[in-house]
Amino acid sequence: MKELKVLAVVVFFTLVTYWGVEPYAHSVMHKNVEEAKFENFQYKDLKAPAKGDPAKGKALVAACVSCHGIKSQGMKAPMDPVAAAQAYGVVPPDLSNAGAVLDEKFIANFIVSPTHAGLVKKSAMPGGMADAQGAADIAAYLKSIAPKEIKPKEAFEFACGRCHAVRYDKWTQIGQTPKTKADIKTGVDLAKMDFEKKVGQYQLKLAGYLGKLPPDLSIIVRARSEEYLKKFVENPQHILHGTAMPRVGVSKEGYEKIYKYLEEVGDPSKPKREAVGPWVIGYFVLFSFLAYLWYKSQWKGLK
Ligand code: HEC
Ligand code: HEC
Repeated sequence: MKELKVLAVVVFFTLVTYWGVEPYAHSVMHKNVEEAKFENFQYKDLKAPAKGDPAKGKALVAACVSCHGIKSQGMKAPMDPVAAAQAYGVVPPDLSNAGAVLDEKFIANFIVSPTHAGLVKKSAMPGGMADAQGAADIAAYLKSIAPKEIKPKEAFEFACGRCHAVRYDKWTQIGQTPKTKADIKTGVDLAKMDFEKKVGQYQLKLAGYLGKLPPDLSIIVRARSEEYLKKFVENPQHILHGTAMPRVGVSKEGYEKIYKYLEEVGDPSKPKREAVGPWVIGYFVLFSFLAYLWYKSQWKGLK
């Protein structure tokens, strides 16, 4: 009887800690995250654009390619990333995958006013590049040239890669770190030094543009919860008021791709862990069954 009482007390306090104290502490410590709204990447504050005509949009992007490349359509970036950062503070992303990662409504609003759509005070992308109809046409065009399927890393590159490095994946803001070799005689790797110098030059300009260098995202999936990340990307201002990180305007599918990439880099053993799960359960089921058989055989004839 005494043991039962002790057990009841232990169970009671365990449950109180589990359902009461922990979530309470969580809600106090992460209050701004819990209270931040989440709209599933709908961007309800932005105006729905008129119906866009991709053919008209195609003609209008002539105004964009003085800054942006559209490689899939045979248009190379007019400047390399370092030169672009000297000019704008950040490299204008190649637009081939824009329609595959961003929300179409967001693109149309962004072209009319990058600061209004991005929720930032200033943007290196000029506003008023087209009127509302023209912007809708361009957004429709970018949607029409977007590949049906892109890789998680490509989604990251387009939407985040111009500002954030991912050291674990050798990604820098100016692209993938090239494989280089040191000189056999001197041990000096000039190509590597040259690349690192360019990254440094780019980062200096980027930090000047944004007020600080954006953090490396290699292990962000471990440092921040899933809830934090999706709410932050949907609207950075909801969580870090006054931050220079713009609302990027990713679609729900675009975000899922990006998160998948960050998870692959930051938590590469997750698929393995998950694959082990069923085996562990199977082991317990089998073990219980054998224990039961053993119990039966021990008691046989003793009753
Ligand atoms: C003067 C150079 C310049 C011109 C012209 C220009 N852009 Fe940009 N654009 C930029 C820069 C710089 C950025 C990156 C801004 C940042 O990250 O703060 C950008 C960003 C973008 C983005 C990414 C938005 C996001 O949320 O990730 C899109 C889409 C875009 N531009 C489309 C266009 C289109 C369409 C046009 C033509 C109508 C155009 N741009 C014209 C410089 C330019
Ligand atoms: C135009 C540059 C820019 C782009 C594009 C950008 N970020 Fe950022 N990001 C920043 C800056 C600047 C900060 C630092 C924010 C601060 O401390 O105010 C930041 C911070 C972050 C943080 C850290 C937040 C925290 O609580 O510490 C995360 C996570 C993040 N960005 C994710 C992303 C993802 C995912 C994308 C792509 C969908 C992205 N960012 C695109 C500039 C950018």
